[in-house]
Amino acid sequence: MKIFVYENREILGKEAAKFIASAIRKNPKLVLGLITGETPLECYRELVRMCERDEVDFSQVKTFALDEYLELPSSHPYSCKSQLLETLLRYLNIPHKNMHFLDASSPNPASACQAYEEEIKRVGGIDLQLLGIGLNGHLGLNEPGSPFDSRTRIVELTETTKTYLARYFGERVPKKGMTMGLGTIMEAREILLMAHGQAKADIVAKALKGPVTTKVPASILQRHPACTVMLDKAAASRLP
Ligand code: GLP
Repeated sequence: MKIFVYENREILGKEAAKFIASAIRKNPKLVLGLITGETPLECYRELVRMCERDEVDFSQVKTFALDEYLELPSSHPYSCKSQLLETLLRYLNIPHKNMHFLDASSPNPASACQAYEEEIKRVGGIDLQLLGIGLNGHLGLNEPGSPFDSRTRIVELTETTKTYLARYFGERVPKKGMTMGLGTIMEAREILLMAHGQAKADIVAKALKGPVTTKVPASILQRHPACTVMLDKAAASRLP
């Protein structure tokens, strides 16, 4: 695991964007796993800027969203699909058919999860998976206790996550979600985990330097052969 610490979240975001752009230049058909939330916003803004200046070409890139909330129409402004379209995808030269989302509106969400796994396999697996970390150490919506070999599935959200998500959803916070499993995530050839801010400092230290345990889902990343971590100083402040 390689850990990089940057002065602030703006620099972190720019460096993360450079990392992704360089992966696309090496492999123009990159299969890229995308995250939502606050963490990637600066990185996504920089990727959009780079794409506008023709510094990176997304025309052959395929993307897969990491997770989605259930019980929400996919057009809801805070569905993961809407967030990804609005903060990144609609500004890139990426064909719509190359964008993949978990379909929360499916009449059979369990089979939609299975179909997602099959689609990831069909395109040859994820080359680079972006990740953020939840305050309780979750990856995607793999809450504490999620098995390390879990696959894309429906999950119940914990109180910590629901309290966090109230900033977006107010009183109508989703109780369930769909998420790639920890096993699915660990099969990505390369991982880029990002975290910023003091609030993440404790969980970052536990995940990166504590015991590998399902109580801290992100601790599994210690076992990934090609995981890069980018932090700002605040998020790194509790690392030994
Ligand atoms: C959310 C998402 C995760 C995200 C994490 C951190 O619940 N499901 O994919 O990485 O929590 O969110 P943020 O970046 O807003 O801190």
